[in-house]
Amino acid sequence: GAAPWVALLLAYAVGSLSFAVVVSRLMGLADPRTYGSKNPGATNVLRSGNKAAAALTLLLDAVKGWLPVWAVARWGGAWGLGDGTLALVGLAAFLGHLFPVFFRFQGGKGVATAAGVLLAFEPWLGVAVIASWVLIAGFFRYSSLAAIVAAVFAPLYYWFGDGAAWDVRAPVGLAVAAMSVLLLWRHAGNIQRLLAGQESKIGAKKGSPS
Ligand code: G3P
Repeated sequence: GAAPWVALLLAYAVGSLSFAVVVSRLMGLADPRTYGSKNPGATNVLRSGNKAAAALTLLLDAVKGWLPVWAVARWGGAWGLGDGTLALVGLAAFLGHLFPVFFRFQGGKGVATAAGVLLAFEPWLGVAVIASWVLIAGFFRYSSLAAIVAAVFAPLYYWFGDGAAWDVRAPVGLAVAAMSVLLLWRHAGNIQRLLAGQESKIGAKKGSPS
């Protein structure tokens, strides 16, 4: 039937809502694509100096990853949707954030959205990955580094934490791995800046040295 395709399209559309841009516009702030890293994400919105806008961006970008997966897990059965669709719906929301149909396909790096997707896939997995991000970010003060490390650990946590489920729910494991690879690829510029010692720390304002 058409149900899986409808679910995928809806998830991609929801993921395409670039909340860094939407929230900034609604709060009368500059477009995050014009300053700092130019990335439409919570980290860059924080460089505007507006913590509420950054927190709201983080929350909404995570919810848009969580919601479609949660909806399929909750109601998908009635529509004949299985774990394959569940995994692909998470990936579709994530890809919407990276390549938003409403914003000329110029999206973000997927950190908050991936966190939401992981929480919906497996709450323990989401919590473990978010805790890793918080630990690295708290220690080193680089949002990008925390995301890179968390992305490397996410598939490992899933593999070792739920090894038995790896076979049964292979699609979810593959979606976790695919999100990690895409997220790392989107951080290529950050990786170069980190290696060059030029990455800006969390909370550094636009224009300030870091
Ligand atoms: O949310 C993406 C984060 O990991 C890095 O963002 O703006 O420092 O490139 P940014």
